Amino acid sequence: MILQAQSITMRFGGLVAINDASLEVKKGSITGLIGPNGAGKTTLFSVASGFLKCSTGRVMYDGVDITAMPPHRRAEMGMGRTFQIVQPFAGLSTLENIVVGAFLRHKDRDEAEAVARDVAHRVGLEHALHRPAAGLTVAGRKRLELAKALATEPKLLLLDEVLAGLNPSEIRDIIPVIEGIRAEGISVLMIEHVMQAVMSLCDYLYVLAQGKIVSQGEPRAVVSDPLVIEAYLGHGAANRLAKQEQQHA
Ligand SMILES: Nc1ncnc2c1ncn2[C@@H]1O[C@H](COP(=O)(O)OP(=O)(O)OP(=O)(O)O)[C@@H](O)[C@H]1O
Ligand SMILES: [Mg+2]
Repeated sequence: MILQAQSITMRFGGLVAINDASLEVKKGSITGLIGPNGAGKTTLFSVASGFLKCSTGRVMYDGVDITAMPPHRRAEMGMGRTFQIVQPFAGLSTLENIVVGAFLRHKDRDEAEAVARDVAHRVGLEHALHRPAAGLTVAGRKRLELAKALATEPKLLLLDEVLAGLNPSEIRDIIPVIEGIRAEGISVLMIEHVMQAVMSLCDYLYVLAQGKIVSQGEPRAVVSDPLVIEAYLGHGAANRLAKQEQQHA
């Protein structure tokens, strides 16, 4: 296992955002994390990547307890993440934004730039390299967010809704990029609402609802789990759907 979040609880004052949730990411896999808005998905990412310190629980990375480790140390160990709210360095070009990520492992400017160019090519940003990052389209910004994280040369990549805001053809274009990341041997944990992408990319899926893992397993099994349908559509929904299906049969 590259990542193990064990019995994580995260409280913000009186609010329990994550309630005794555990999840694991197998090396070389794409693991999905889905759940309704406000379920605690981004909070769980922040705990895994060290931006938040969990109230209780333990985070293991490649067998090492990293619960108390700051984010930059986790990045050095090979943990990369994207942010749900995409914020490129607006005054910098696309290439310079990616170079910032590459500086983690390459102090030499030319070396960092070579890595950044290679990453830009992998994510399909080579045509925008010298344009100001502020001028990128939504799809371009999402690619840049991916590129910044990839430039840190991660072993594990945490993707927080990298497909949100993209149209169907942009989504189709970026799915092979994520498949390519797995093919390079990088493990991926992705938060995603776009189910078409979740179903085609993920080897294993977790569902978080109100801070708890309510279902996990192979994507196909998970999406037909009554508890998951309830989590998305509300109490009693699974029953109502089943009844409707019987009536139509
Ligand atoms: N820093 C914080 N301080 C207080 N409450 C917070 C903080 N961060 C998140 N929360 C609360 O924790 C809960 C979980 O939020 P989180 O952003 O993790 O959900 P999410 O599953 O990522 O939702 P979405 O799908 O909308 O991105 C929400 O009720 C949110 O308001
Ligand atoms: Mg979120």
